[in-house]
Amino acid sequence: MLAVRLAKYLAHSGVASRRAAERLIAEGRVTVAGEVVTDPARDVDETSGVRFEGEPVGVESREVFALNKPAGVVSTARDTHGRPTVVSLVPSERRLYPVGRLDADTTGLILLTNDGELANQLTHPRYEVPKTYVASVVPEGVPERALRALREGVELDDGLTSPALVRLVRPGLLEITISEGRKRQVRRMLEAVGHRAVALERVAFGPLRLGRLARGEHRRLSAAEIERLRKAAATIPRS
Ligand code: URA
Repeated sequence: MLAVRLAKYLAHSGVASRRAAERLIAEGRVTVAGEVVTDPARDVDETSGVRFEGEPVGVESREVFALNKPAGVVSTARDTHGRPTVVSLVPSERRLYPVGRLDADTTGLILLTNDGELANQLTHPRYEVPKTYVASVVPEGVPERALRALREGVELDDGLTSPALVRLVRPGLLEITISEGRKRQVRRMLEAVGHRAVALERVAFGPLRLGRLARGEHRRLSAAEIERLRKAAATIPRS
C-alpha cells in the first residue's frame, strides 16, 4: 500500500470520517510507532504502526455489507422513536454506518460500512453514483408525458431534478435511476407528475445489484465488489 496522510489512513480504516480523524490526531489520541503524532499530514502505511488510543489500526479491518432493508426499519444509526435501525440488522464487531439513507417505508439495497472515506465518496453529490429504484405507483396508467417529464427533469420545491433513466416495466411499475440523493426524491418526483409510490424498493447502488438477497438479509461484500464501488465513487461524470 502506498503511503497516505495519517487522517486519510484513519478514515480508510473506519476509525472516523476524515474531518473527525483530524480532530482525533490534534487531540493526541493517535500514535505512530509509539510516538504521539499531531500532524494529520504525516505520511503512513500499514507498516508504520499506527494506533488509535493504543489499538492497532489497519485497512484490513474495513467491512462493507449489503442489506435488503425491510419496511419500518430506519437507516439512521439510532432512532428517537425506538424503531429498529439498519445497523441493528447487521451484527459486526465494528461500528457500522449506513451509506446514505432510505426512507423508513422504502425497502431494498442499503450499504453499511465502517469505512468513513468510502461512505463519504459514495454519497457525495459530486460523484453522482447512480441508484436504481422500482416503484409501484397509483394511478397505474403512466402517460408518455409523465415518463418524458421524469426523463427530462421535474421541478421540485428544492429545484429541478437531473434527468432520470425511466422504464415502464408494466402498468403501475416503473424502474427509475437517479444520480442525486435528495430527501424522498423518487417519491416527490413521482408526485410531481401525478403519481404516488405505494411501494418503493432500491434494486441497485452504483455497480452493485440487490440480486437474490432476501428481505432483512445481509451479506459481506467481497474485496472485488468494494473495489468496484470505490471506482464508481471516483468517477466524476460531469464537471
Ligand atoms: N427516493 C425516495 O423517495 N425515497 C427513498 O428512500 C430513496 C429515494
